[in-house]
Amino acid sequence: MKISIIGAGYVGLVTGACFSKLGFPVTCVDLNQETVKRINEGEAPFYEPGLAELLAGQVKAGLFSATVDLRQAAQYSGVTFVCVGTPMAGDRQIDLSFIIKAIDELSEALKDKKDYHLVVMKSTVVPGTTEKMAERLWEMTGKGAGQVGFCMNPEFLREGSALADFLSPDRIVIGQSDAKAGDYLASLYETMPAQVLRTNLRTAELIKYASNTFFAMLISYSNEMARLAECIGDIDVIEVLSGLILDRRISPAAGGSILSPGLAAYLKAGCGYGGSCFPKDTNALRELSTKGYDYNPLLLDAVIAINERQIYHTVSLLYKEMDPRGKEIAVLGVAFKPDTEDIRESPAIKMIDRLLAGGAKVRICDPRALGPARKHWGERPGVSYCEDPGEALKGAHGAILVTSWPQFTCLEPEDFLKNMATPLLIDGRGVYDREKFSRAMNFRVIGYRPGSKNPA
Ligand code: UGA
Repeated sequence: MKISIIGAGYVGLVTGACFSKLGFPVTCVDLNQETVKRINEGEAPFYEPGLAELLAGQVKAGLFSATVDLRQAAQYSGVTFVCVGTPMAGDRQIDLSFIIKAIDELSEALKDKKDYHLVVMKSTVVPGTTEKMAERLWEMTGKGAGQVGFCMNPEFLREGSALADFLSPDRIVIGQSDAKAGDYLASLYETMPAQVLRTNLRTAELIKYASNTFFAMLISYSNEMARLAECIGDIDVIEVLSGLILDRRISPAAGGSILSPGLAAYLKAGCGYGGSCFPKDTNALRELSTKGYDYNPLLLDAVIAINERQIYHTVSLLYKEMDPRGKEIAVLGVAFKPDTEDIRESPAIKMIDRLLAGGAKVRICDPRALGPARKHWGERPGVSYCEDPGEALKGAHGAILVTSWPQFTCLEPEDFLKNMATPLLIDGRGVYDREKFSRAMNFRVIGYRPGSKNPA
């Protein structure tokens, strides 16, 4: 079966490249001529481990191509995946304009198509959206579910491990307008040994939000414990969370050893979550809940507020140690997490802006994300960019670790001591050895404050 994909962004390109690896001929549609040209030359327009190599091979094998012509791509395929962006509109809601445009263009393309066609929503959309889009397309084409079926098939790809996440999925969620549509989509995943969950369209949509908001909640929960540990004093949140994780309901024992659950990676305190998904999805679900249904989602509110507070709290740990005015501060990491160049909603953005507003001079250091950082802040007084941590730390008065790139986590106290004018380090990810660093230099870390004082 031929596949067309609307949107050659992160989700579209990974999905397309992986389906073509499974043997399906794929055409990816994008508005951007330059992106289309680069893809057809076998180049990936952004960094994701393994994607460039996969894409180059599939393009060469004639199984993957890109085009700006949506009509032709849709007509010559049996299934179209909608993978366009759903950015935040303002602060909260999601912007559906790209989805609507894609559906309208698809309606035009499918009007005179004779054979059955399946439309699959991959973009993350709030519950109810795919149904609305199906109705819109059916009205515009004069067709019904028997001729154009709809599915909602959420993606669970993590940046940095997206190819492995796609090719070895833990579950495949298929929300379907009807059984024919679901069967059609299920046939594409036939060779994948994963649990398949068939639901209606809106359930599949909420599963995606439930997943992202759950992991965001674990991070905010960990950060709440971290703040409490700091308030009480002489408690290390790492030990607290390790003690929690060992509960056999979280880490069951099997064959004499304790299984380490994947969710433990999110039960970690730090300077907050970021990226193109967690912030957007928590906000969009809250907005849907309050504006759409007049329901006040207390837990989502707290998850969002704790994350916001944690970002600024990390900067305030530095402010407690120094007056930032005119001081050089090294920010180690601007990507929202290691192994990506993506800085969208990275906690580093708010931290850097706060530091600049406080009169500091900021040295932004990242092994991969300096391009997007330069685009964001540009060349301006008070901001400089360094690839190498040694260069960022040279003569600096303070440093904050934001992204746990291995290039930063391997640093020893001597690396700070020999370079910095005043060796002050704020560990925003809890990665450095507390004792060693505290002995050697002025060191503060999220989730631990030495000394104790009982409340009166
Ligand atoms: C996330 C989900 O994990 C994917 O399942 C989902 O498909 C994707 O969003 C999406 O909706 O497209 P991603 O944003 O790539 O994937 O990143 P994660 O690795 O899950 O990390 C999210 C954020 O949590 C990052 O800011 C990361 O630094 C932060 N994080 C993670 C913590 O702050 N602490 C942790 O312990 C773990």
